[in-house]
Amino acid sequence: SSGKFFVGGNWKSNGTKESVKKLVQDLNFAQIPSDIDVIVAPTYVHLPYVVENIKDRFQVSAQNCWVGKAGAYTGEIAPEQLKDLDVPWVILGHSERRSLLKESNEFVGDKTANALAHGLKVIACIGETLEQRESGQMYNVLEGQLSGIADRIADWDNVVVAYEPVWAIGTGKVATPDQAQEVHAFIRKWLADKVSPNVSSAIRIIYGGSVNDKNAAELAGKEDVDGFLVGGASLQAQSFATICNANA
Ligand code: G3H
Repeated sequence: SSGKFFVGGNWKSNGTKESVKKLVQDLNFAQIPSDIDVIVAPTYVHLPYVVENIKDRFQVSAQNCWVGKAGAYTGEIAPEQLKDLDVPWVILGHSERRSLLKESNEFVGDKTANALAHGLKVIACIGETLEQRESGQMYNVLEGQLSGIADRIADWDNVVVAYEPVWAIGTGKVATPDQAQEVHAFIRKWLADKVSPNVSSAIRIIYGGSVNDKNAAELAGKEDVDGFLVGGASLQAQSFATICNANA
């Protein structure tokens, strides 16, 4: 494993004022180990509330940001606006955005470079579909996604890579620990070859896709699994806290 264990909760497009208030309250009472990084990513509209009300023990993340500076870009939120709200992290390249909003590898790479240039930390998501996996395209797809980023950034200190196989997201069909380890090891080797051995050994590679309080510990036991990006199970404080304790 590399670095501090990292657990992110991606709340996706979920929540109301009421449910977010309850989740923040519950998280503030949860037992979370002190030696790991824990990030929560609410919707844009809930960010200010969460930043102001969640304990400092948690770091807050957006789920996306604009590819350039603030300005005449209707509906977009720029990195400097996230910084201004004291939001240090952003998730980029989530498969839901790659597929539903047609975000390309190049666009995700441009957004990553822009976010880093503005001082944000980035959870960069990659992952293959079932069709790509079954047709033998998995490693090509992952390389394309990684290259989109590697071609555009020089400094990986503020990047966490999230491997999220699309077939495992929200399906209840979690990757086996061996499947996750195989791909994480591939990503680490690719980074060693194409970026640098130092980046490869320091970077955190986290797994996402149907992680829950039951399966997290076994996945966390794998050598190259440095944490998780959790969707559904992060909406419930107790499950999320159990996942945060999976590395014990
Ligand atoms: O970003 C989180 C992933 O998409 C995983 O979502 O835990 O609901 O499968 P999930």
